[in-house]
Amino acid sequence: MSGSNAYVIAGASLAGAKAAETLRGEGFDGPVVLIGDETERPYERPPLSKDYLLGKAERETIYVHPASWYADSGVQLRLGVPVAGIDRAAREVALADGTRIGYARLLLATGSSPRRLPVPGADADGVLYLRRVGDSDQIKATFQTASRIAVIGAGWIGLETAAAARAAGVEVTVLEAAELPLLRVLGTEVARVFAGLHREHGVDLRCGVQVSEITSAGGRVTGVRLADGSQVDAEAVIVGVGITPNTQLAEAAGLETGNGVVVDAALRSSDPDIFAAGDVANAMHPVLGQYIRVEHWANALNQPQAAARAMLGQDVSYGKVPYFYTDQYDLGMEYAGYVEPGRYDQVVFRGDVDRREFIAFWLAGGRVLAGMNVNIWDVNDAIQDLVGDGRPVDPARLTDPAVPLEDVAG
Ligand SMILES: Cc1cc2nc3c(=O)[nH]c(=O)nc-3n(C[C@H](O)[C@H](O)[C@H](O)COP(=O)(O)OP(=O)(O)OC[C@H]3O[C@@H](n4cnc5c(N)ncnc54)[C@H](O)[C@@H]3O)c2cc1C
Ligand SMILES: NC(=O)c1ccc[n+]([C@@H]2O[C@H](COP(=O)([O-])OP(=O)(O)OC[C@H]3O[C@@H](n4cnc5c(N)ncnc54)[C@H](O)[C@@H]3O)[C@@H](O)[C@H]2O)c1
Repeated sequence: MSGSNAYVIAGASLAGAKAAETLRGEGFDGPVVLIGDETERPYERPPLSKDYLLGKAERETIYVHPASWYADSGVQLRLGVPVAGIDRAAREVALADGTRIGYARLLLATGSSPRRLPVPGADADGVLYLRRVGDSDQIKATFQTASRIAVIGAGWIGLETAAAARAAGVEVTVLEAAELPLLRVLGTEVARVFAGLHREHGVDLRCGVQVSEITSAGGRVTGVRLADGSQVDAEAVIVGVGITPNTQLAEAAGLETGNGVVVDAALRSSDPDIFAAGDVANAMHPVLGQYIRVEHWANALNQPQAAARAMLGQDVSYGKVPYFYTDQYDLGMEYAGYVEPGRYDQVVFRGDVDRREFIAFWLAGGRVLAGMNVNIWDVNDAIQDLVGDGRPVDPARLTDPAVPLEDVAG
């Protein structure tokens, strides 16, 4: 199939589905092939640790498009079969079932996979990860039968799952290697808020601990042993210790990789006919002036739309400010911006931190690197504008609720 005019997308999740939608939306009328190794049509993952896990959202609500959309839009959906390799010379992808599909342009939207816990016993029954909808179903079922669980990792997965477990009436111990939950992303000042939130909701949060072993009996998990010799009993263990980008295809094909598939601001890889978007893409960000790989929903929603336009030959530079959100118990928040650990010199607050109704701003040299609104709404666009503006601001005006955020810049 060399000389194909097909646009092929590897990875049928949010990023892949949005790229297919954009190709059609932009008027591309050649073949679009969307290939995924999961058997489900593209769905969104945020509900899997929130409303779907809590039993508040029906399964049908998680999908990116209705089932009929693919045929109606002329998008060939190939599910349950991984792309096994890319033959760049022949411009073909090889699927694991032996099929070869030629491409004019290829998008890698292969996302990421959970890091496995590298300790003895971690393969016992009842050690669970959360990435796919089936994982969420399994954890939801576990909440019905287990009275006590342990969660390893106090990142987004660990904390959202702990909150869902508490809502289901399950006793929860969270075991985190760092000194605070979410420390790398939020820094000490704001990470403390999340530690307090979970402890108030009855979570036994233990930070600065080292997991040395998963204990089991008859192949079934019984708990977690820590390096100090202590034992945490648990009927199930949920592991959320981060992800790694699925770069295997790109690496085997000789594309430039490093913390993901390296792409320029147009999402183009070191091969001009191959693009990448979503969790797997380490993209040059034109506003931040550096490569970043974003592991969040809004990036998987927006970046592939830019990639699809670039694949069609349009002049594209993807510079949206990174954005994400979480819901835990009665705390809802949105975060916009990007701060590498240790790269800010000041955190200031507007509002009431103790009541968890506030906006936090991370600053460096007076410039707003990021902002997070907690239980305060309709301000995130203004926060994104402040981050994008890039000029130093007066911290006193930032913290003064009488000054509209729109008036702080400059
Ligand atoms: C439980 C959970 C909750 C989350 N909640 C939030 C949230 O509240 N807010 C937020 O901002 N972000 C959240 N995220 C992160 C967000 O879901 C991800 O950033 C997003 O899913 C990334 O989308 P993606 O399409 O790039 O990759 P993925 O969603 O990882 O999808 C990639 C797809 O490609 C498939 N694939 C991989 N390799 C191949 C191959 N060789 N051939 C074929 N298919 C392949 C994978 O199986 C997968 O289906 C959450 C993630 C999880 C797991
Ligand atoms: N609301 C959201 O935006 C949201 C929600 C869920 C998931 N996600 C995404 O899903 C992905 C996976 O989330 P995650 O929570 O697994 O990753 P994460 O990177 O957010 O957090 C991992 C946590 O595990 C800790 N850790 C690592 N190794 C450990 C060990 N051996 N013992 C104890 N603690 C250890 C880390 O210090 C860190 O706090 C991420 O990309 C995340 O952004 C996002």
